[in-house]
Amino acid sequence: MSQARIESMMDEKRLFEPPMEGRNSARVTSMEEYEALYRRSMDDNEGFWAERANELVEWFTPFTKVLDADMETPSIKWFVGGQLNVAYNCLDKHIANGRRNKAAIIWQGEPDEDVKVYTYQMLYDEVCKFANVLKAQGVHKGDRVALYMPMIPELAIAMLACVRIGAVHSIVFAGFSAVSLQNRIQDCEAKVVVTSDAVIRAGRSIPLKKNVDEALRLCPSVHKVVVVNRANAAVEWQEGRDLWWHELMKAPDLKASCPCEPMDSEDPLFILYTSGSTGKPKGVVHTTGGYLTYAAHTTQWVFDVKDSDVYWCTADVGWITGHSYIVYGPLALGATSLMFEGVPSYPGPDRFWQVVEKFRVNIFYTAPTVIRALMREGAEWTQKHDLSSLRVLGSVGEPINPEAWMWYHENIGGGKLPIVDTWWQTETGGIMISALPYATPLKPGSATRPLPGVDARIVRPDGTDAEPNEGGHLVIRRPWPGMLRGVFGDPARYKSTYFERFPGCYEAGDGARVDSDGYFWIMGRLDDVINVSGHRMGTAEIESALVSHPAVAEAAVVGMPHAIKGEAIYAYVTLNADADETEELRAELRTWVRKEIGPIASPEVLQFADGLPKTRSGKIMRRILRKIAGGSTSTSDFGDTSTLADPGVISDLIEGKMDLTGR
Ligand code: PRX
Repeated sequence: MSQARIESMMDEKRLFEPPMEGRNSARVTSMEEYEALYRRSMDDNEGFWAERANELVEWFTPFTKVLDADMETPSIKWFVGGQLNVAYNCLDKHIANGRRNKAAIIWQGEPDEDVKVYTYQMLYDEVCKFANVLKAQGVHKGDRVALYMPMIPELAIAMLACVRIGAVHSIVFAGFSAVSLQNRIQDCEAKVVVTSDAVIRAGRSIPLKKNVDEALRLCPSVHKVVVVNRANAAVEWQEGRDLWWHELMKAPDLKASCPCEPMDSEDPLFILYTSGSTGKPKGVVHTTGGYLTYAAHTTQWVFDVKDSDVYWCTADVGWITGHSYIVYGPLALGATSLMFEGVPSYPGPDRFWQVVEKFRVNIFYTAPTVIRALMREGAEWTQKHDLSSLRVLGSVGEPINPEAWMWYHENIGGGKLPIVDTWWQTETGGIMISALPYATPLKPGSATRPLPGVDARIVRPDGTDAEPNEGGHLVIRRPWPGMLRGVFGDPARYKSTYFERFPGCYEAGDGARVDSDGYFWIMGRLDDVINVSGHRMGTAEIESALVSHPAVAEAAVVGMPHAIKGEAIYAYVTLNADADETEELRAELRTWVRKEIGPIASPEVLQFADGLPKTRSGKIMRRILRKIAGGSTSTSDFGDTSTLADPGVISDLIEGKMDLTGR
């Protein structure tokens, strides 16, 4: 995050009391109640979680032990001996409990007239049918299924169908490239891929199946591809491998019932790849009982979802936010979840507000980058629509700067609605630090307090506790049910990334401080991960994409402050001697990264550099590169540069940046 943004947060003194309206019927109604819950959750941690797990989840076989964990090994087991099925908890349970005709998913396609409503019964039928399809295609318990799909209802159906039969889904965000898809499929050895012909985005149809065809050239594990027809786009077809969703689903003997596979609490539920500071993306593994309990628990407490609410999380299901807060959390509670295919800016910058008005949305959860982009378009767009149905607002993915917070509060929240700023990660499975909407006084820019059950602390590099307001590493000192249980196929990386540096703790990789009121202020990643519009990008991944181009000798990637995206990607590239620094090559390298990883990884700025700042032992000093990318020009900004092999590199880089950006 930029220094200016950090400073504006350090100065933030405003306090917003939770609203009175709605408080009486809320789940947690005061800070006293929160404090009591928090204390209870620490004093009797297992009792607290056992209660939540029994209240929120229907178990086929009750668990016999709440927790069996050792954070140092690490070995984490929640709700040991329990058996359950997530699809049962998201569907069958509600059908049995009188919610059969309640809307489970309201799907709004990008074209305004494309709306589909699935009641719990209808969703159940579709899920069972697709579960039977998967079985018929040879998918068994424990097999991996890759889902590479746009925001269409078939994605939620496919997820629930997998978990119904005990298959493990691995969703790959549809904005990722063929190469990224290939890497992920190869890593988890998926048997089946579910995709669509194309993605509809901002009025255009963007081919998707084409990427699957390309990816599968080197994926021997995949034997079937199921294709949803979303856009009537032309596709190439491989007979024997490719199958149309709509044809499979109308087979005359296909049953709309399918028994649920009883799953062990610790059986894997899904894999989701996320970027780290080194190497390839990691396949974060979540398991069944703990994840479901945690997703349902946090959805219930943080959003205070009521039975009659329409709840809308604007994330893509391809990210963890969509997994936990579009599909599993809301459906486990029997809520109505709105799923939106479009983008905030099309056909106009009031699209979100038009959708809020159309469905009388009560709870709205989005990302700061969206707020900043819409803020720029002007508040008049928000005034075109009746937003009075809204009750709770949420934010996720990156720190929300106080300016964006205030705009959100005033223009969307009418100056009165609570904003829950939720800090969490792919690895945590669900929200960890957040306000409770009717209990917590809010400070713009702070994620406020850890949820009950979450033992979050700030520690110094030596592992000792930081003082109030002293920045340090954010760690979690005890297990929580939603935590990751592994990195797929790589136990050593699981341990070294999260559990080694601070023994006995989970290390989040974020820097933060806690103020004297116990409020957490997240300062951003401490590792080489860039947060672009709330999406995590590993610098090493982008660098390795760049150096795989024949013209590139070396590349170093850092984050730079960006008014809308929060951070943007700044790449320094040293070319091979026989390549010329041309605009064509610059454009080609950007396209190259899009193709290797996906459009979100394409560098905002790409500077050619004859040399990079290295220590005498050859280590690139990224600190210096970050400063230059952020606009520093004075030598005093760079701290100690005495270890540089060639100090002259700095001024060359500053000059190069000025030539490129004019600043
Ligand atoms: O740096 C933190 C930031 O996003 C990272 C997690 O990214 P990802 O696994 O992709 O999950 C995003 C959605 C949960 C964190 O390490 N982050 C997420 N939420 C916040 C945040 N930073 C500050 N405030 C937040 N509310």
